[in-house]
Amino acid sequence: MSKTTVTLLPGDGIGPEVSQAAVRVLDAAGAEIEWERHIAGAEALEKYGNPLPPEVLESIRRNCLALKGPITTQVGKGFKSINVQLRQELDLYANLRPSRSLPGIASRFEGVDIVVVRENTEDLYAGLEHTVVPGVVESLKIITEKASLRIARFAYEYARRHHRKRVTAVHKANIMKLSDGLFLDCVRRVAAEYPEIQSDDKIVDNMCMQLVMRPEEWDVLLLENLYGDIVSDLCAGLVGGLGVVPGGNIGLDVAVFEAVHGSAPDIAGKDLANPLALMRSGVMMLYHMQKDEVAERVRRALRDVIVRQKIRTRDLGGEASTTEFTDAVVKAIEKDTSA
Ligand code: NAI
Repeated sequence: MSKTTVTLLPGDGIGPEVSQAAVRVLDAAGAEIEWERHIAGAEALEKYGNPLPPEVLESIRRNCLALKGPITTQVGKGFKSINVQLRQELDLYANLRPSRSLPGIASRFEGVDIVVVRENTEDLYAGLEHTVVPGVVESLKIITEKASLRIARFAYEYARRHHRKRVTAVHKANIMKLSDGLFLDCVRRVAAEYPEIQSDDKIVDNMCMQLVMRPEEWDVLLLENLYGDIVSDLCAGLVGGLGVVPGGNIGLDVAVFEAVHGSAPDIAGKDLANPLALMRSGVMMLYHMQKDEVAERVRRALRDVIVRQKIRTRDLGGEASTTEFTDAVVKAIEKDTSA
């Protein structure tokens, strides 16, 4: 079978550790992927004087697929977020982040199964900020009908395909009547075409409270970019934390899969990071590539290691290092394959 070429961006901080772990697992499972490795972020800035060298975008456009580790963005200074640039440049308009309670992973709640669908290209992340006069800064929130309609359609199509029962639009249209009002209006127009799916909406602050009170009641959440960023981290916290939750940035032709978590500089280079979230992002990528059998093999191995063997990294209350956890998953895949 010929191999599929996928761009690999290992990223910063814990990125190289968790990317290496995910690659080992996908290779062991027989994903038949040829990895085309590129650097972006701080390492690329140092080496090429550009944190997002053109060959990174060219590679992803050519391969249409990438697996990406987290990339550090400095707070309040430095270059524009590479993550935001990639999503905007490649028009990866839908950010998909499923947060599901997993057997063997302790958390405060059970039975959580929430899919966050986040608009990925506009809102306050358009990066249009300027100083009006010293001491006064203006940051523009861009909401367009086009982007709102297409993310709403993505969410409803996802819900239909995956037999989800309900889509909740999350907004602040009581205050931002024009921008969030437009988003909500677009969602309602699309919702009318999917009568079999229950549709409702919630104001974002109330939504956060509801999520931490009764998370098991929610299904698909549809949000603008900023609310989606915040609420998806909250949802990760409901099911075991950032070490667990995968994600995909999906466009019309191109998709980039990455975990919800960042570069975790506090634990970088210590073999402590949980690679599960990026491994599960790899599983999402395998389904996207229609390699369902390989995806199932990885899922079975993860379940075996976490639930039966009870091997977990420290963020999940275990003692395994990144390498030990990965070794165990690779071994479980090899056992499964030879069975
Ligand atoms: P973070 O997600 O990197 O870390 C938050 C906390 O979660 C830390 O205590 C960290 O140790 C822990 N954590 C995260 N991932 C973990 C894992 N796989 N295993 C075990 N523990 C894990 O968020 P933070 O500190 O706000 O951001 C750090 C940097 O990452 C920033 O520069 C930020 O811009 C960047 N970032 C990049 C993202 C991306 O590339 N998609 C997404 C989010 C943040």
